Amino acid sequence: MSLRAKLTLGTATAASLLLLAGTATAAEPGAPGIGDPYYPNAGNGGYDVSHYDIRLNYQPTSDNLSGTTTIVARTTQDLSRFNLDFLLKVSSIRVNNRVASFTQSGGELVVDPKQSLRKGSDVTIVVTYSDVPSSHAVDGYTAWKRTADGALAIDEPDIAQWWYPSNNHPTDKATFDVSVAVPDGVEVISNGLFNGTAKQINGWTRWRWRSLKPQATYLTYVAIGQFEVRQSTAPNGQPVVNAYSLNLGENELPAKASVERTPEVTEFLEQSFGPYPFEAQGGVVAPGIGFALENQTRSTYDPAFFRRGANTYVVAHEVAHQWFGDSVSVQRWRDIWLNEGFASYAEFLWSEHVGEGTAQENAEYIYDLYPADSAFWQVLPGDPGAADLFHGAVYDRGALAVHALRVAVGDEAFFTILKRWTQQKKYGNGTVEEFIALSESVSGQQLDELFQTWLFTPGKPAAAPGAATFA
Ligand code: ARG
Ligand code: ZN
Repeated sequence: MSLRAKLTLGTATAASLLLLAGTATAAEPGAPGIGDPYYPNAGNGGYDVSHYDIRLNYQPTSDNLSGTTTIVARTTQDLSRFNLDFLLKVSSIRVNNRVASFTQSGGELVVDPKQSLRKGSDVTIVVTYSDVPSSHAVDGYTAWKRTADGALAIDEPDIAQWWYPSNNHPTDKATFDVSVAVPDGVEVISNGLFNGTAKQINGWTRWRWRSLKPQATYLTYVAIGQFEVRQSTAPNGQPVVNAYSLNLGENELPAKASVERTPEVTEFLEQSFGPYPFEAQGGVVAPGIGFALENQTRSTYDPAFFRRGANTYVVAHEVAHQWFGDSVSVQRWRDIWLNEGFASYAEFLWSEHVGEGTAQENAEYIYDLYPADSAFWQVLPGDPGAADLFHGAVYDRGALAVHALRVAVGDEAFFTILKRWTQQKKYGNGTVEEFIALSESVSGQQLDELFQTWLFTPGKPAAAPGAATFA
């Protein structure tokens, strides 16, 4: 019984008691998904997280990960119970300091607090766990990557559930403290500011990292292993932390010749995208990732990107994601073009900047690369489907769509659109439809046909954007 009901009991008439019963809303379970059409189980309903404190221990030789994640959240409905997204075996949960019961299956951790939670109330959830992340697969895939000397919690769209419980969707961002204790001689890299190491009494060393700006769950990462860690200061005064695996072999120097230029690339992209939105910079190069990923403030790169020598294009791509993807995140995963189309277009801008081909030349090159009968032209960047989230068309045709916009509205309106988008949506989320609406309002042009052609129509468009046509 609630306190309010108790207080009214003394003087209540039968009629007012009935009224009370009639208007009280029963607490309901939070939804197991946040409503993303591509990933129905991603995220959860009924609460909003503001902070994660992830405090773990990791033993590379056994892949055992154990510790506690503390979640500070607020309820958005009366909740009888709620879900977290998590695969590892949980040993205990407390909700507002009281032991809660829970069940786990299929990546959903269902938490039953002793008392239901009122809408709009602060809630602190402490989850304690111990498990071997590499022993878990979802649809046959294990996102947690063991390496020769450690592990990488790096993937998109999904990595969080392999190492910490969360509301796993980009629409619920939060700040993070991440700390991992490891045997001496192992390094741990994560997002944001480095808060130093602390020697533990068991002989292990704890590495502490902190993200001050809202961060999506999939962009929160750890790289554990043997790394050379380089700390410096960017021209804008921000801390730069780069880390290079000690297992890069002949890729080590080209990786450094690329990733060390992160502050220069950041400064360059600020001219097109507006002020850099975060508190720190950097990059990590480690074997075993298999791709590059724009982890917030500190992108990660597979050394294969540097196999043929320095590669500043991949750096431009990942740094561009800090605005397009990390600060402004997808509202639904269907909006992935807002990430990959723009990060790929940043490579065109960088190419022009370093005198290796204009954006126009890059657009024509890409357009000509794929013959009209190629399956490439059948994937729609504006709605590729979950299976083709990272299809080449989302990147390459996606960049052509961005260039088509630039050609149609002119440079002044184009760069106004980009800066206004990153400003208006800073630390938030956006949809393709919202981007189109902004483009139309800034340019004063009707752009439905343009975006329909480049984002939503199967088949090769008649000509490259901006190409001279010979009728
Ligand atoms: N956003 C990353 C990039 O463009 C792509 C990550 C691809 N993810 C994957 N699991 N293959 O650089
Ligand atoms: Zn990308």
